[in-house]
Amino acid sequence: MNLTMYKNNPVVNYRILMVENSVEDALLMACSFREEGFQIQFERVETSTAMISALETQQWDLIVSKNDILQLDGFKVASILKDMRKNIPLIIVADSIDLSHKEELLNAGVCDVVTNKGISEMVQILQNNQPMTKQVPAEIASMESKNNKITNEDLLKAKILIVDDDPKNVAVIQQVLEMAGYENIHFTSDPREVCDLYQEIWPDLLLLDLNMPYFNGFQVMEQLKKVEQRDYIPILILTAQTDRESRLKALKGGAKDFLLKPFDLVEVIHRIQNMLEVRLLHNKLRTQNYGLEEKVVERTKELYKTQLSVVQHLGRAAEYRDNETGNHVIRMSRSASLMAKEMGFDQNYCDLILNAAPMHDIGKIGIPDGILLKPGKHDVEEWGVMRTHAEIGYKILSDDPSELMQLAAKIAFQHHEKWDGSGYPNGLKGTEISIEARITTVCDVFDALTSERPYKRPWPIEKAVKYIEDQKGVSFDPEVVEIFLKVLPEITRIMDQYTDS
Ligand SMILES: [Fe+2]
Ligand SMILES: [Fe+2]
Repeated sequence: MNLTMYKNNPVVNYRILMVENSVEDALLMACSFREEGFQIQFERVETSTAMISALETQQWDLIVSKNDILQLDGFKVASILKDMRKNIPLIIVADSIDLSHKEELLNAGVCDVVTNKGISEMVQILQNNQPMTKQVPAEIASMESKNNKITNEDLLKAKILIVDDDPKNVAVIQQVLEMAGYENIHFTSDPREVCDLYQEIWPDLLLLDLNMPYFNGFQVMEQLKKVEQRDYIPILILTAQTDRESRLKALKGGAKDFLLKPFDLVEVIHRIQNMLEVRLLHNKLRTQNYGLEEKVVERTKELYKTQLSVVQHLGRAAEYRDNETGNHVIRMSRSASLMAKEMGFDQNYCDLILNAAPMHDIGKIGIPDGILLKPGKHDVEEWGVMRTHAEIGYKILSDDPSELMQLAAKIAFQHHEKWDGSGYPNGLKGTEISIEARITTVCDVFDALTSERPYKRPWPIEKAVKYIEDQKGVSFDPEVVEIFLKVLPEITRIMDQYTDS
């Protein structure tokens, strides 16, 4: 394998677990890898518990271990790896080591034993071991992404903005972040620039100093709240102020965590990584939610289309059994929707009425042919059976919980109720009858009067209008009748558009 393939390649990141009790030595080693041109991410552990936890929760390309840490020497590290069945190359770093000891370590499963300056040996080992990030097959990687896991690649590409009036502090953090492999680091020493920079970068993490000239960290947080109103601001406070009051004030102002000055550089890396993981997961979930919301809207539309189709087919079935024509239901439902619009209902609800009203007589499919299709007048008993169509319609439609079917059921149940309480099936009075039924009834009766039926000639419009006016406050809601008269020219246009012939 060609070593240069991995050098200076921002996509490939090696993850190195350092079993090391000195922060400085760990950072020095990280620097050495960086100087060799490797992008690395590392974690330092110095106890077996921490090491096991790191092995359980993350993938590693290389383990570099000191040999003289109390209770965690090279043998212990090797045996932990063996017990956990982790086949990760292990390099032991020692100041000096005798040959027999080295041989024992190699027999215990150690890859190599090198001196503190032995970075070239470690590079060689890395060269021979493809990084884990490269070993994950595409399908598994995509599964991980679906499972909302944040990859190293995601982390190292995260956008970080450092704000500290002391350029030395900025330089230290920038250096440690670069050493850890972060690629997208922005900074400023002037707090007056933060808002503009924030809106330019939209960082995944803001490292913010508290004591600065012009604007202190608290004031910067206040300003940022104005520019970031849709989302939370991931702020990590850099401060030497350890008093409770300052910490509480910062938390109240929107800070999510603190880094105390002078910096513990390993802690800096861990805290930043933790905050970024949360932030990137949040970003991922937010993106997924957008997708889900779109899907829900799409599915809802599909569902509504299906309901509409069922309702329309039911309407067709009813037409086959009734003398009324298909155009009757089109005219009366369009008129009802028009009136609802005039009464101030929103367009969606008017559309709902348009689609629900055609079902008003669906219950007629439950009336025996001998009665429903009888040419002459019905006797009292037959009339009693005919009247049951309102209840039958309600039973057919009301099972479905959708808004469309519930409205259709209500209209079917109440379309023969009368304003004065003399209607059927329940003798509802005035506003006990739903407004949708009060509207639909006027349109239904008007259209029935002006249509030809086997037993009657169509009434002239003037005569039908006169009837509607006469029934104002008797059969019909007076207010609805007023609206009917107001939109009558449009209703007659609908009649002309959908004639029976
Ligand atoms: Fe009816
Ligand atoms: Fe009708």
